[in-house]
Amino acid sequence: MSVSLSSSPVFTVRSFHRRGSQRLASGFWVDSTGCPLFSSPLSPSKWGPFREPDPERQRRRPGLRLQGGVVASGSLEDAIEASSPSSFRSKNPEDINVLVVGSTGYIGKFVVRELVSRRFNVIAVAREKSGIRGGNSKEETLNDLRGANVSFSDVTSLDALEESVGKLGCSIDVVVSCLASRNGGVKDSWKIDYEATRNSLLAGRKFGACHYVLLSAICVQKPLLEFQRAKLKFEAELMEEAKRDQGFTYSIVRPTAFFKSLGGQVELVKDGKPYVMFGDGKLCACKPISEADLASFIADCVLSADRINQVLPIGGPGKALTPLEQGEMLFRLLGKEPKFLKVPIEIMDFVIGVLDFLVKVFPGLEDAAEFGKIGRYYAAESMLILDPETGEYSSEKTPSYGKDTLEKFFQRVIREGMAGQELGEQTIF
Ligand SMILES: NC(=O)c1ccc[n+]([C@@H]2O[C@H](COP(=O)([O-])OP(=O)(O)OC[C@H]3O[C@@H](n4cnc5c(N)ncnc54)[C@H](OP(=O)(O)O)[C@@H]3O)[C@@H](O)[C@H]2O)c1
Repeated sequence: MSVSLSSSPVFTVRSFHRRGSQRLASGFWVDSTGCPLFSSPLSPSKWGPFREPDPERQRRRPGLRLQGGVVASGSLEDAIEASSPSSFRSKNPEDINVLVVGSTGYIGKFVVRELVSRRFNVIAVAREKSGIRGGNSKEETLNDLRGANVSFSDVTSLDALEESVGKLGCSIDVVVSCLASRNGGVKDSWKIDYEATRNSLLAGRKFGACHYVLLSAICVQKPLLEFQRAKLKFEAELMEEAKRDQGFTYSIVRPTAFFKSLGGQVELVKDGKPYVMFGDGKLCACKPISEADLASFIADCVLSADRINQVLPIGGPGKALTPLEQGEMLFRLLGKEPKFLKVPIEIMDFVIGVLDFLVKVFPGLEDAAEFGKIGRYYAAESMLILDPETGEYSSEKTPSYGKDTLEKFFQRVIREGMAGQELGEQTIF
């Protein structure tokens, strides 16, 4: 993947003078060949009423015609040519085509839901087997992404992605990426957090996208892990692209910790086990943010002029919480006497040292060593704004957004369990 964005041939459409764009009819899904699967037989979505295609709106747009469930134009070039670089911001949401990659992840699903509820025309790219360890079938994915047009494709192949988007027969206004390596391994991080994410930029640009919203992570401020380096490389290319083409903009969202990353001990503590923490439980802190609040923040980035070309660190409401404070909160909610197990951080340093040594002899242990480093990182580094001068993290400088608190989340997990909050394949993220 050494081709620079500026030299890529897919940018030929950039020079077109564009005057408008076209959309797919909500409620239709297409497979990787562009063929419609079926229109929605589902009951109204829990995210709000399911939107069937509006024949009246199609009638008002003479350039559009229905092709077996997909509204397509006579020529895709016309569609791309018909939209001006940032004019999408003055259109109604239903006339704005938003391509979402990583749509089946923990955050991606909520982003799709939020964009659909704001009436954007959402095209969600998904794998035929999605979710943790590919546990979700096509039908489950379609159900999860109700209200969006789902395109089953492969983001790891630029050709496949471009072909799938091309077959939709509409231009793209905005790309939103919630892609992430599911396990944080070295090769997978570069394949997904960099290459696949970059593919979505290239494919989006080919079909007219002039704004890109990236879900990144606040921890890239202090990059010690491969997935952070991969994310930073893509962030830099995104910024470079905006410099090169004034008609292109981006918003880079860098959230603090997700609720799922902090809920892993709730059921254990409920069952009488101690709360495990490293050192004195004050080595790190974060301002956790819920999936719904983060999705709302990301959806704001699609249209908000004040988020253009910005790197946006973001946390949830309230002050930062250390693991010790999170544990105390949990015992209080459970009405139990606090019981902590304090693990010296040096244990992790020892394990990482051993694995780093073994990797030199057995390269196959590369990912095991990386997972050790990821664990160590989150045990000791705060998910807050970092002052590069002092090396100090600041709760005050970390912006807050939303209304969902960790306390409410813990209460829910105590009542209902961790369903929907499962961690990834290595149970680290
Ligand atoms: N956990 C935290 O506390 C935290 C905090 C701050 C920032 N973040 C960042 O937030 C981002 C998103 O996290 P998340 O928890 O929503 O991620 P996630 O649940 O693991 O979802 C990852 C998404 O990427 C897709 N993907 C992964 N590998 C793929 C492949 N080989 N081919 C096609 N698609 C693939 C997944 O598709 P499938 O469903 O098909 O697998 C899924 O849609 C990450 O970048 C993470 O670094 C996390």
